[in-house]
Amino acid sequence: MEIVHTLRDLRLRLAGEGLVGLVPTMGSLHEGHLALVREASNHASCVVTSIFVNRLQFGPTEDFDRYPRDLEADTKRLASAGCQVVFAPTESEMYPSPQRYFVEPPALQNELEGAVRPGHFRGVCTVVLKLFHMVQPQVAVFGKKDYQQWTLLKEMVESLALPIRMVPGETIRAEDGLALSSRNAYLSTEERAEAPHLQMALKRLAVAIHAGSATDLNQTIEQESMTLQQRGWHVDYLTVRSQYALAEAKAKDRELVILGAARLGSTRLLDNLECYRLVGPS
Ligand code: PAF
Repeated sequence: MEIVHTLRDLRLRLAGEGLVGLVPTMGSLHEGHLALVREASNHASCVVTSIFVNRLQFGPTEDFDRYPRDLEADTKRLASAGCQVVFAPTESEMYPSPQRYFVEPPALQNELEGAVRPGHFRGVCTVVLKLFHMVQPQVAVFGKKDYQQWTLLKEMVESLALPIRMVPGETIRAEDGLALSSRNAYLSTEERAEAPHLQMALKRLAVAIHAGSATDLNQTIEQESMTLQQRGWHVDYLTVRSQYALAEAKAKDRELVILGAARLGSTRLLDNLECYRLVGPS
């Protein structure tokens, strides 16, 4: 496995490579990322993992400065997961001058995560498009853990006719159900013990939707939200959307996704669960 820091070295290393797969990351890698790398190696002969903490997608009061960074530990993990090239550009390599051209995603960028993190998806889409131009992959893998990000990036690729096959990666969970995330490292021991309750709430909602027992879906969501709040969570949103472009869920929609974001202390956790409605609500 080779580690390159500049675009020049990246181009030299990838010259003559056949099918290139890209897994964009911000580092602080865990099993969830490694599963994406393994997935990429099913579709590509050369897997590139990029590691870059992208300032553009952080708000002014967010955790850009304290976001965990450990390139040495990350590269060790990647070597054992089947990654061939690590692209870890510096800030000045990625943004040699202030970025003045941006990708402007559709209205979904201002909903859900975007409502709490204005400008976040503009920053994500811009850096991902830039990474696509730098690496020029034929395949790119993104985790469904960040469902809204996955949805917006997939649409970006379609909308801009980028010659890249987008492959989704399933969410990897700890034994108690907590979705793996780099930000789990911020949780105290007590918060870590409480954290799986977000996933439990999503699961109860999925069961109710699947069985058709959630006659008033909004009320069921409200109850789950209250339960989390009583347990000490601050709920940013708990909602059910169509799996297609995350449109508002209609009674006729069968393929749904439940999305939740909530804070435990100062740590914000994000989770989702795809679910299928067998019968329409009354
Ligand atoms: O999901 C992430 O880690 C980031 O949003 C991404 C896609 C690497 C862009 O910075």
